Amino acid sequence: MEGNGCPNKLCGRIALISGGAQGIGQAIAARFQREGAHVFILDCDSDRGQKAAEGLTTQEPSLPAEFLRADLREQSAILQAIAAVRKSKGRIDVLVNNAGIELERSFDRLTQQDWDRILNVNLRGAFLLTQAALPLFPDSGGAIVNVSSIHATHAFPDSVPYACSKAGMVALTRNLALELCPRHIRVNCICPGYIDTRLWEEYLRNSPNPAALAAQTTALHPLGRRGVPADVGEAALFFASEASAFITGANLVVDGGLTLRAHS
Ligand SMILES: NC(=O)c1ccc[n+]([C@@H]2O[C@H](COP(=O)([O-])OP(=O)(O)OC[C@H]3O[C@@H](n4cnc5c(N)ncnc54)[C@H](O)[C@@H]3O)[C@@H](O)[C@H]2O)c1
Repeated sequence: MEGNGCPNKLCGRIALISGGAQGIGQAIAARFQREGAHVFILDCDSDRGQKAAEGLTTQEPSLPAEFLRADLREQSAILQAIAAVRKSKGRIDVLVNNAGIELERSFDRLTQQDWDRILNVNLRGAFLLTQAALPLFPDSGGAIVNVSSIHATHAFPDSVPYACSKAGMVALTRNLALELCPRHIRVNCICPGYIDTRLWEEYLRNSPNPAALAAQTTALHPLGRRGVPADVGEAALFFASEASAFITGANLVVDGGLTLRAHS
């Protein structure tokens, strides 16, 4: 651990990252491993999850990453995954609630199934995973990092269930942070803006004019570029490490200034 002769920020820590098979979660897993953490990737996508864990292990054979298959909609699968961590390492120091799904659908076309699917993965899943993981946190404490979105605070078209799930994540963060102070477990939240992940790349490739779309979306960002998963990885590392030892219940916007302007 930092201060114990190890220069890395997460040396010896056990970290569990939901949705770590790809995109932002994968970048967080890679960043944590580079700082000395033993990483568990929890995901419902076995192929990608296995590949991501193998990739990390190849990069750092002394810190083999482990994949846990679980769908966050199923409490029994979550409990099984946590039991596997208990058996393998006996504790969790850092939990990242990152897994999430989006839906673009106008309010009048939304079904109860749509609402349940988004809320059950994005918010109920984080609740269930956190509740299952908490008994494994040591008495010395730890860190929980929740991945919300700028949708929690800003309105976008056709995004009601997603926005509500992400606003719920901010409320979950603040309330849980207060409840877990006596256990020295800090709970913080990241609100990413537009981050270039696989889905964005696909969307861009399939658009009629990828160059124009890329230029147009870049121009929305006062910092002059779109976000990359590593940008969120750095923020997650900050909240997971001792660098943020006196911060809990906070919400960090990582959006290149996208939401700063009152009007354009
Ligand atoms: N990419 C962005 O622009 C952006 C912006 C703001 C917030 N976010 C949030 O960041 C998080 C990661 O987004 P991303 O772009 O990397 O997405 P992604 O689709 O690339 O990755 C999400 C991962 O979560 C997993 N997952 C989905 N449903 C699951 C379930 N039921 N159980 C277990 N795992 C499940 C997927 O298999 C996938 O590996 C999400 O919570 C998303 O809402 C993303």
